[in-house]
Amino acid sequence: MCGILGLNSHHDVAEHLIEGLKRLEYRGYDSAGIATVTDEGLQRRRASGKISNLEAVLRDRPCPGSLGIGHTRWATHGAPTETNAHPHLSGRVALVHNGIIENYRELKTELESQGRVFESETDTEVIAHLIDMALDAGHSPAEAFHQALGRLTGAFGLAVIFAEDRLLMGARQGSPLVVGLGENEMVLGSDAIAVAPFTRRVMYLEDGDWCVLSQSDAHIFDAQGVTVQRPVKTVAASAALAEKGNYRHFMQKEIHEQPEAISRTLSAYVNAARGDIAVPEALDFNAVSRIQIIACGTAYYAGAVARDLFARYAHLPVDIEVASEFRYRTPPMTPGTLSMAISQSGETADTLAALKWCKTQGLQTAALVNVHESSMAREADIMLPTHAGPEIGVASTKAFTAQLSALSALVVAAGRARGVLSEAQTQEAIQHLLEVPRLCVEAIECETQTEAIAHQLLDAQSVLYIGRGAMASLAYEGALKLKEISYIHAEGYAAGELKHGPIALVDEHTPIVALAPSDEVFEKTFSNIQEVAARSGKIIMISDAEGLKRAEGVITAGLEIPASDPLITPLVATPSIQMLAYHTARLKGADVDQPRNLAKSVTVE
Ligand code: G6P
Repeated sequence: MCGILGLNSHHDVAEHLIEGLKRLEYRGYDSAGIATVTDEGLQRRRASGKISNLEAVLRDRPCPGSLGIGHTRWATHGAPTETNAHPHLSGRVALVHNGIIENYRELKTELESQGRVFESETDTEVIAHLIDMALDAGHSPAEAFHQALGRLTGAFGLAVIFAEDRLLMGARQGSPLVVGLGENEMVLGSDAIAVAPFTRRVMYLEDGDWCVLSQSDAHIFDAQGVTVQRPVKTVAASAALAEKGNYRHFMQKEIHEQPEAISRTLSAYVNAARGDIAVPEALDFNAVSRIQIIACGTAYYAGAVARDLFARYAHLPVDIEVASEFRYRTPPMTPGTLSMAISQSGETADTLAALKWCKTQGLQTAALVNVHESSMAREADIMLPTHAGPEIGVASTKAFTAQLSALSALVVAAGRARGVLSEAQTQEAIQHLLEVPRLCVEAIECETQTEAIAHQLLDAQSVLYIGRGAMASLAYEGALKLKEISYIHAEGYAAGELKHGPIALVDEHTPIVALAPSDEVFEKTFSNIQEVAARSGKIIMISDAEGLKRAEGVITAGLEIPASDPLITPLVATPSIQMLAYHTARLKGADVDQPRNLAKSVTVE
C-alpha cells in the first residue's frame, strides 16, 4: 500500500526522500512523487511506474528545498497516472495520503460548488483543498489542518507541508504513521523501515493523533486538539537492514532466512533448557472452548494449517475465516471463544476491523503479529509475537513460517494444558519443534533441484496443488505463492476433492504439485496422484525419501524434504513450495519482489 515519507530538515531533502521511498517500494506501488518547499513556493515532481521514472524526472528538473514529502501510490481511486500520483497541491499546501477517504464525493461536490477546481480523480485531493480553504479563512496551519481532519471519514495516514510556515504535519486514523526524532531534522513515515535511515528514535501516533513538526520540534495532539505525549521508542537495528545482500531478490533472501526466523520465534515460546512452553499468562487454554481465527492471504493459510494441528494435538475446535468475509457475516459468537487475528504487518484493514468487532462482542482477543508495535498488537488483549524480522518481499515467506512456528508451539501448549498431551508427549513434541530449523536448512539445500523442476512449470497455463489435512492448507498457500509472483494460474485443492471437479482440467499440459509426505494418509493421497497419472497429468511430488520411493514410476519429478513428525511437516515442507514458486517466477523474468498489482500491507478494505 501507499508509502509516506516527510522530512523537515536543514539540508536539501529530495535525494533523501527518494532513498527513503526506495525502502518503501516493498509495500507495492504504481506511481511515485515528491514535493518540496522553496523560496518560490511549492515544487512537485511525479511519475507513473517505478521510482526510477521519478529519478529520471528529477535529473531533468531537480527539486531543491529542505522541507518535503514523498509518496509511493498504490492506486485505489483513479488510474496510476502522473496526474493521480501524490503529492496533491492546493494553494500553499502539498499533501500525501495512505488509505481511503470514504466521504470524498460529498466533500468534492461541496468544494466544487465553492469554486475549487480538481485536477485528479483521487479521493485525496479534497483534503488539500479543505486545508487550503481553512487557511484562506484566516486559520493558522495547525487550526486549518485540525479543522480539515474533522471533516474526513475513512482511513488515513497523512503528511502535509505548509509552504509559508515551513511546517510538516501528519495525521493518523487507521493507517499507521511514525514520527522520527532526528538531529536537527524531524521525520514522518508510514513505517519504521522508512524512518530508520534518519533516526532510530521514534514515536508511534495513536489513532486520531495528529502532529506538527518543525525542523527541531515535534508536537502531538489528539483528535480534540489536546497536546499528548507518546513514548519515544528505539527502533530495532533490524529495521535498518533492508538490504538484499548476495541474493538476487529479497524473497530468495527471506526464504533462506527462515531457519533463523523460526528459531527466533520458537525461542519466544519454547524454553529448551527447561523443556517448557510458555504462553502469555492471560491465555488460559483450559478456559478456551473454541478459537476463531481471522486473517487474510498467506496469514489465513497459516491459520488453516493450525486448525488441523489444534484439533489433532489439543482437541480444540478452530474456525477460520478470511477477515473480509467474517466482518460482514455478523457470525454468532459463543462465550469461551478466543478470537485470534494472524497478520504479518498487524495493519491489514479487514483483519484489524474484524479483531475490533470481536472485542465489541466481549470476546478475548489475541493478535499473532510480526510487527509488535502494530495496530493489532495494541488492540488485542494478548499479543503473540513472531520474530521473522522485517519482511520486504511482497509474497510472504519467512513471516508465514514464523506464524506456523508460533502456532505449532501454541498447539503443544494447548495440548498440554488441556490434558490431551501427556508430559512425555509434550516433551517429545517440544523436541520436534526444536528440530525444525535444522530440517528447514536441509529442505532449503534442495534449491538447485527445485530450480531444475521449476522449468517444468514455465509454460503451464494452470497448475494444481493438492494435499490432505494440514498439507491441503499448504497446497492452497503453494498455489497462492505461484500465482502471485509468476502470474501462472494455480489453485490448491484437498486431494480428495480433485475428482469432484478439478480433475476435468487434467491433461498432459497441467502440472500437479502433490504435497504427500509418508504419513497416515499417504496411501489416500497417492491414489489421487495415480488418478492424475492415469489422465497423463504431470506430477511433481513433494515428499520424504520413503514417499518418493513409493511413488517411483508414477510421478514426473520428486522434490525431497526431510522426514519429520506430522506436527512439524507443514513447516519442513514450506520452503520447497516457496522455492518452486520463486524459481518459476525468476525464470519467467517476473518482478519477484514487487509483483504487479499487489501490496505488502493492505490498509484499505
Ligand atoms: C497482502 C500481502 C500478503 C499477506 C496479506 C495479509 O495481500 O501481499 O503477502 O499475506 O496481505 O497481510 P498481513 O500483514 O495481515 O499478514
